[in-house]
Amino acid sequence: MTVDESKLDSIIDKHDVEEGSLIPILQDIQTEYSYLPKEALEHVSQRLNIPMVQIFGVATFFKAFSLKPKGKNQIHVCMGTACHVRGAKNVLENLERELGIKAGDTTDDGEYTLETVNCVGACALGPVVVNNEKHHGQMTPIKVESLLSTKPV
Ligand code: FES
Repeated sequence: MTVDESKLDSIIDKHDVEEGSLIPILQDIQTEYSYLPKEALEHVSQRLNIPMVQIFGVATFFKAFSLKPKGKNQIHVCMGTACHVRGAKNVLENLERELGIKAGDTTDDGEYTLETVNCVGACALGPVVVNNEKHHGQMTPIKVESLLSTKPV
């Protein structure tokens, strides 16, 4: 991916150009691109004079950051205890089969990213699937297919 360096500079310039601003700068870049492109991190490394290894350390430590592009649709399957005992594993496996990817991956067409989370605070409705921030409760392997408007071929 080619990143627009002037856009990156305007993001960086909103913050103090110092090491302590790294996390808020990364948050803004993630908001802009939906992930942290390597080229953007290299630019941040040069501007803030922080080694890439340190930036990667921060980017991989926080689950909110992603080094891989995300799909247009983001599906999160809750694998917390309450959802797990009600069959979340079967729901996840069916989604993986339907999308042809494993949890943590994005479909080749960039439509879907499938991820797991631990408890989204709606345990009584488990198993819960969050599709683009909308919660769907009492999901079953069959019901979950209706969440997929376009399935990869
Ligand atoms: S365990 Fe799934 S919502 Fe709490």
